[in-house]
Amino acid sequence: MALLGVNIDHVATVRQARGTDEPDPVWAAVEAELGGADGITFHLREDRRHIQDRDARLLRQTVGVKLNMEMAIAEEIVAFACDLKPAQCTLVPERREELTTEGGLDVVRHSARVAQAVARLRDHGVVVSAFIEPVSDQVRASAETGFNAIELWTGAYAHARTSEQRTTALAALSTAMEMGHRSKLEVHAGHGLTYRNVAEIAAIPGFVEFNIGHSIVSRAVLVGMRQAVREMKELLVRHAP
Ligand code: PXP
Repeated sequence: MALLGVNIDHVATVRQARGTDEPDPVWAAVEAELGGADGITFHLREDRRHIQDRDARLLRQTVGVKLNMEMAIAEEIVAFACDLKPAQCTLVPERREELTTEGGLDVVRHSARVAQAVARLRDHGVVVSAFIEPVSDQVRASAETGFNAIELWTGAYAHARTSEQRTTALAALSTAMEMGHRSKLEVHAGHGLTYRNVAEIAAIPGFVEFNIGHSIVSRAVLVGMRQAVREMKELLVRHAP
């Protein structure tokens, strides 16, 4: 069964909205672990809009499951990650005006810079994953650039309005996954997955990890983080291939 990585960024978003010290994403990570999370994911953005350096350092010291840092390939952030040495770094595109990470990293276009960042992180013992759209050129480029894993962007599936669009998106994910496996890449998935739409993705064999944030944190506001994670985990178990 695929691992559940819980993205806790939006706990920090609520904290930053008032500039106080609550709610604490580090505490949320503990609760997520107690609910059955297999991994904790955070995104240290260049603009520090939610997760702060202090959060990243404390998470590194306290998280007992897999710690996955999402990051841009900016020099300052790569240096921070090499020092922090989380279990895994997922390289993502980052634009200051975006609400959340929109679409995948263009590994084809930025291959030289991406390859440098991948090599530096791997030299520090970090597993490196590429957050990409499920298209063959990006999968091929990710393998050539030295990534250990790819995280396929599930946004097209999550945002599909018709069953036709949904079927097309699922087919693209399956094709990209097969290609990833042929290139010896571990295959993850994430973005826009919710309690309502995760079943079909969870039922596809071959995904090693799902990273889910907004939907879990939204439910956690109402039922608590531990319970919210438990409910998502139950769905993954129920629909596992
Ligand atoms: N995976 C990656 C690489 C992401 O950038 C994000 C959003 O931060 C997620 C997964 C989680 O997306 P969502 O919050 O829509 O579940």
